[in-house]
Amino acid sequence: MITRRTLMAGLAAAAALPRWAYAAAPADGVDPALVQFIKGLPKSEYHVHLEGTLEAEMKFALARRNGLGLPFADVAAMKASYNYHDLASFLAIYYDGMKVLLKEQDFRDLAYAYLARAAAQNVIYTEMFFDPQEHLKRGVPMEAVIMGITRARREAETMLGIRSQLILCFVRDSSAESAMAALDAALPFKQYLVGVGLDSDEAGHPPEKFAAHFAKARANGLHVTAHCDIDQPGTLTNIRTALVDLKVDRIDHGGNIVQSPELVAIAKQRNMYFTVCPTFSGTLRKGLDQPVDVVRAMLDAGLKVTISSDDPAYMASEYINDVLLRAVTRSNLSRAELAQIARNGFEAAWLPEADKRLLLARLDAYLASV
Ligand code: ADE
Ligand code: ZN
Repeated sequence: MITRRTLMAGLAAAAALPRWAYAAAPADGVDPALVQFIKGLPKSEYHVHLEGTLEAEMKFALARRNGLGLPFADVAAMKASYNYHDLASFLAIYYDGMKVLLKEQDFRDLAYAYLARAAAQNVIYTEMFFDPQEHLKRGVPMEAVIMGITRARREAETMLGIRSQLILCFVRDSSAESAMAALDAALPFKQYLVGVGLDSDEAGHPPEKFAAHFAKARANGLHVTAHCDIDQPGTLTNIRTALVDLKVDRIDHGGNIVQSPELVAIAKQRNMYFTVCPTFSGTLRKGLDQPVDVVRAMLDAGLKVTISSDDPAYMASEYINDVLLRAVTRSNLSRAELAQIARNGFEAAWLPEADKRLLLARLDAYLASV
């Protein structure tokens, strides 16, 4: 399962700087023709946390608008504080940052800014995560969150031609009761949601904690996905639970699956798609003599990989084209593999078959034209 090519790519990744701090520009060393190919490629992304697209500049603007103080002198000082080394230390910064989001207009502005950036990079369809429990905690009504984002989705589709849907994430390290309360508060707005997911700190919060939530979401016509973050305690058990017991419709990250040929076989048999985010979660390290590149290993295992940007505002503001450009080098991706990853993306969409075919036709037209 872990091939020589995988290991070499892993070694190259390990030699790189910390996962979000880069010495070189994304396109450095990439064939200029491939750079153009990536820019023009019609794309989707399914693993982007809207709160993780909250750029420092917008944080300052929203804080000003909402009369809140921030403990940073300026944008540069705020960005310099984005210093994390693992999931838990990242999440502390991420949750602190979203406290400036208070009004429906804030959620609209946040979502529109992401959709505008994505559209400018030829993302034609996206399914976006949001973390309502964190906003409910601060007294923000669910309606303000969902309707603000929904307004942005409608405007972006009309103005920019980008189609999108919304996935409500349960914050797994909060209580199961607060997740259920969030689901119940969201169900009156279920026509604006396409699915539910599971994010935040996995350690001690396995997917089965949310079995009842997933069942209720399903009964309400929603799809189900779950983060299986890289190198988490019990990761293979959690991947198995998500895949076999809870029968999720997609897995977010999930790269440790390459360490279990049995789970790889089950994922293939279930035609499972993975939303992989190599910027911060691109390398397996735990318990290994040599680091392993996640994208390379999953492709070599024959798994259905899609690629996303995760939390770009906290990851050097690198949105999808930059993520793909870096993946070319770190995961040794060919043009054919990039095209396959784009195809996987449209096939993985939570859309009616006819709509998927339209997206795939746009991809085919592009591939035939280059
Ligand atoms: N919340 C935001 N980004 C996340 C990630 N990559 N993993 C888990 N929870 C998250
Ligand atoms: Zn994520």
